Amino acid sequence: MNQTLLVEAARLLEEIRAAGLYKEQRHIETRQGTNIVADGKSLINFCANNYLGLSGSQELVDAAKDVLDRYGYGLSSVRFICGTQTIHKELEKQMAAYLQKEDCILFTSCWDANEAVFATLLTDQDAVISDALNHASLIDGIRLCKAERHVFQHMDMADLEQKLKATQGKRLRCVATDGVFSMDGDIAPMKDICDLAERYNAFVVLDDSHATGFLGPTGRGAAEHHGVLDKVDLITTTFGKALGGANGGCVAGSKKVIELLHQRARTTLFTNSLPPVIAGVTLFVLSYSESHPELREKLWQNTRYFREKMAHAGFAVPVSEHPIVPIMIGDGKTANDMAQDMLHEGIYVIGFSYPVVPMGKARIRVQISAAHTPEQIDQLVDAFEKLGKKYLNMSNSSR
Ligand SMILES: Cc1ncc(COP(=O)(O)O)c(C=O)c1O
Repeated sequence: MNQTLLVEAARLLEEIRAAGLYKEQRHIETRQGTNIVADGKSLINFCANNYLGLSGSQELVDAAKDVLDRYGYGLSSVRFICGTQTIHKELEKQMAAYLQKEDCILFTSCWDANEAVFATLLTDQDAVISDALNHASLIDGIRLCKAERHVFQHMDMADLEQKLKATQGKRLRCVATDGVFSMDGDIAPMKDICDLAERYNAFVVLDDSHATGFLGPTGRGAAEHHGVLDKVDLITTTFGKALGGANGGCVAGSKKVIELLHQRARTTLFTNSLPPVIAGVTLFVLSYSESHPELREKLWQNTRYFREKMAHAGFAVPVSEHPIVPIMIGDGKTANDMAQDMLHEGIYVIGFSYPVVPMGKARIRVQISAAHTPEQIDQLVDAFEKLGKKYLNMSNSSR
C-alpha cells in the first residue's frame, strides 16, 4: 500500500474531524418510512426526501417484483449497445408527457443528468448563469463544460438580469436553477426567471428534484407552481425522492435536444442503463400518484400543520410553503447537539452547519412526508419545545 497516500488520507480525515464535519452514518435496519429502526433504536424519521411516503411501501415492492420477473435485473450494457428495453422507452414517453415536454432521456441519477446537459449543449462560445445556491450536481455539471461561467446572487433577479446583459455577445446563454433549494426549502421564482430568459434570448435549465411529483397544482413541480411549465426549456429531475426514492433521473425537453443528449452525453454513452426495475417502478409511481391526489393533499396539510405549530411555539422558521422546513438555530454545535439529543426523544432529524450552510445559520432540517401522522408531528414539536428550553433558553412565554 502506498504510504504517502495513507498518510495523506489520514491527515485529511483528521482535518475533517477536527472541523466537526465528519459525517457518521446511521445503519437503518428496516425499510424506509416514517417509523424506522436505526442502530437498534426505534425512531420517527423526519429526514428522508420521501415526500409522498412511497419509498418503502408494499405497493412499490410488489410492482418491482413484477418488473423484475418480466425484464430481469440488469442489462450489462449502455443504452446504445443493447441496454434499451421497451420499459425505458415507455418511461421516457410517460415522463415527457408528465412534464409536458416533447421528449425525455433517462439517466441513472439526476447527478448524471446534470452532468450531461451543460457539457453536451454548451461550448466556449457560450455562457451559463447559475444561482449561487444551486445543487452540487448542477455546479459540477457546469464545471464540465467550456462555457463562460457566471453566478447570480441567490434568487436575485436584478443580478440575473445584469449577468444576462453582460453576456449578450455569447452564442448561447443558459440560466440554471434548482426549483427548490434543499437547505432552505425556498422555491425559485420561475416566472421571473423565464421572463428574463425570454427577454435576453437565453434558455432555462431547471433541476426540479425537490419538487417533481408534489409541488404545483398537479404535482409537476416548481415550473407548474409558477405557471411556466411551457416556458422552461429543460427540466432535470430525480426518481430518488418523491417518485419512489430508489435512484434514476431524467432530462425532459424538446425532441432535438433530447436526441442530441442521446448522441453526445457521456453519462449515457459510457455508463450502463437505468436498471429496468427502477424504470418500471417509476412508471408505476407516476400513475399511482396521479390516481392518489390525496397523497399530495396530505403532504401539504402535514407541512402547514408543522410550520404553524413551530412558528406558534416561537421557533425561527423561514417563510416558505415547502415540506423542507429548516428550524434556524444559529450556532453549529448547538444545532448538532440538539439533533443528537432528538434521538433520545425518538426523533431522527439532522443538524446542518458551516460549510453546508453559511456561518451562523446552522439549522435542524425537518422533512415532512405525506406518510407522517399528526401524532408524529405533535411528538416532533414537543421534542423541539423540550430541547428549545435546554439549548435555546426558550420558555413557554415565547409562545
Ligand atoms: C436539487 C438536486 N439535484 C440533484 C440531486 C441528485 O439526484 P440523484 O440522487 O438522482 O443523483 C439532488 C439530490 O440530492 C438534489 O437535491
